[in-house]
Amino acid sequence: MPKKHRNAYDSEDFVRKYIVFQRKDPHHKYFDKPAMHKAIPSLKGKVVLAIGCGSGSELNYLKKKGADKVVGIDSSKYMVALSKLNAPWAEIHKMSASNLDFKAESFDFVYSDLAIHYIRDIGKVFSEVYKILKKNGIFLFSTTHPIEDTLEEVKLSKHIKLKILGYSKIGKKVNKVYGDYFTPRQIKNRWWEEDEVVFYYTPISYIINKAIRAGFSIQQVLEPKPIAAMKKAYPDFYKRMIKIPFIIIFKLKK
Ligand SMILES: C[S@@+](CC[C@H](N)C(=O)[O-])C[C@H]1O[C@@H](n2cnc3c(N)ncnc32)[C@H](O)[C@@H]1O
Repeated sequence: MPKKHRNAYDSEDFVRKYIVFQRKDPHHKYFDKPAMHKAIPSLKGKVVLAIGCGSGSELNYLKKKGADKVVGIDSSKYMVALSKLNAPWAEIHKMSASNLDFKAESFDFVYSDLAIHYIRDIGKVFSEVYKILKKNGIFLFSTTHPIEDTLEEVKLSKHIKLKILGYSKIGKKVNKVYGDYFTPRQIKNRWWEEDEVVFYYTPISYIINKAIRAGFSIQQVLEPKPIAAMKKAYPDFYKRMIKIPFIIIFKLKK
């Protein structure tokens, strides 16, 4: 029986497994982290917020980049405890990105790495971040690329599965459509066989229009490819990621 979680990171057992997995299998460091780090603007003297700061390593990174003050928030009390352990110097709160309890216009830069796809209403996150950013402040975030979640898995045999967005035809007639790009929806994935992880899929235009409606202008959109070192470390993942995007990064400006 899969273990069902409303938010997987609220389970101590899940967080423990996630941390072991992240240590053993740091595949994000070959595509997400390099691109996110490169996109960080100068932080000298800036007040910075990290949303979904997880175990806290990004708090140390943002500090190293010269930030004057770094604040981290995470909705999971277990992640908050880990962040406090790994970045004891930082200000860290248990808080949801959907309800940012900070003074208006108090941050220069907001950073969120692979966290906001766990939140049902991305528009609410944008309006909350907009509120707490100073004028000209930047919101840099990464999330799962919609292409990744639009694919439908088709079992071809006991061992072969196809992941596809497309359709089959019989003669000139469309026979069957695989995948769904347009419909925003909740997705449930099975991690480590037994944990059900819930996140949210939206098409790219949905994300962009919600950001614009919150008041942001778009400074940059990145679809990072893996760095060369991934070819040796994770050849299988590399083969796929060099052709099909896995994450997307947005840099928004207030
Ligand atoms: C995949 S982890 C990424 C952690 C960290 N940013 C990193 O890159 O190592 C996602 C994080 O988002 C947090 N999260 C999920 N929903 C959230 C919410 N509504 N508000 C704040 N954080 C949330 C989780 O608890 C988890 O720590």
